[in-house]
Amino acid sequence: MVSANILASLFLFLSASQVATAADNTVSGEAITERYWDCCKTDCAWPGRTEWTQPIQQCDGNNKAVTDFNAGSGCGDGKAFSCADQSPWAINDTFSYGYAGVYLVEQVRDKWCSACYEVTFTSGKVKGKKMVVQGHNSGFDLLTANKFALAIPGGNTSFAGACAKQYGVDNKVFGIEDEGVSTSKECENLPKPLQAGCKWRFDWFMNETRPNASYKRVKCPTVLTDRTKSIRNDDADIKPEDQDAEEDSASSITYYSTLGLGAFTALLKFIL
Ligand SMILES: *[C@@H]1O[C@H](CO)[C@@H](O)[C@H](O)[C@H]1NC(C)=O
Ligand SMILES: *[C@@H]1O[C@H](CO)[C@@H](O)[C@H](O)[C@H]1NC(C)=O
Ligand SMILES: *[C@@H]1O[C@H](CO)[C@@H](O)[C@H](O)[C@H]1NC(C)=O
Ligand SMILES: *[C@@H]1O[C@H](CO)[C@@H](O)[C@H](O)[C@H]1NC(C)=O
Repeated sequence: MVSANILASLFLFLSASQVATAADNTVSGEAITERYWDCCKTDCAWPGRTEWTQPIQQCDGNNKAVTDFNAGSGCGDGKAFSCADQSPWAINDTFSYGYAGVYLVEQVRDKWCSACYEVTFTSGKVKGKKMVVQGHNSGFDLLTANKFALAIPGGNTSFAGACAKQYGVDNKVFGIEDEGVSTSKECENLPKPLQAGCKWRFDWFMNETRPNASYKRVKCPTVLTDRTKSIRNDDADIKPEDQDAEEDSASSITYYSTLGLGAFTALLKFIL
């Protein structure tokens, strides 16, 4: 019998390049999280950020699509704001969909713009819960850790005042610095299209603050890209079954490389 360790070493040897790619932190890793909702045009909404069907959809004050992808951000003098429907929603008690401002250490934004990630919380009250989020923005404020800034209406202050401008309301309804609104009831002061996403934080997300998470790239589900209209060209290369790849060796082999598996099987036949 050839031991599992020897087989594993052979596999590593045979597909070193594929394994290196899989270990790349654009694919999986550990991350910190935070909450944000500033209504600004999102960074992944500008043309040319990556190769895709189109940039992340932006909206006007009535949440109507802004079709000029070069329109300036509502945080400045422009008329493009974040769309209200790029908010989180729960499927069940342990799984939600949403959007995030992403930053991956030592990567460039053409890797994360419009890419989807399965994010599993690893600390706090939400430990074990999962989200699948699409990278609709970039989180460039802290460059020392992988980060997912979860887009949650009323989940943090609207620092630049763009939410007040987009909806014609007082910026105070978006709450206080570093916290946003404090109760689910206060979500009812937000513009109607933002209320459900705001309440999600107090229900599914249990009002958690910066839980840590592990993440891995997955093929974007259409429920997310239907809202952003943005599908990366390289999403076509991700097989849906990758999404449930476990860490055991059998599925890791499938996950890492079918090419490596072919060579591995050939060598196995030769040895046995
Ligand atoms: C609120 O936003 C600030 C600035 O981006 C960030 O440092 C902070 O962690 C956020 N707060 C929460 C609770 O996520
Ligand atoms: C929650 O929904 C997710 C996604 O549809 C599914 O994979 C999971 O099995 C569901 N969990 C429960 C407890 O129903
Ligand atoms: C939500 O958490 C913040 C602290 O992060 C706290 O100030 C606030 O009272 C909490 N709200 C509820 C409803 O528990
Ligand atoms: C979350 O991760 C950061 C960075 O790795 C670490 O400093 C912090 O202690 C972690 N927090 C929890 C609650 O695990």
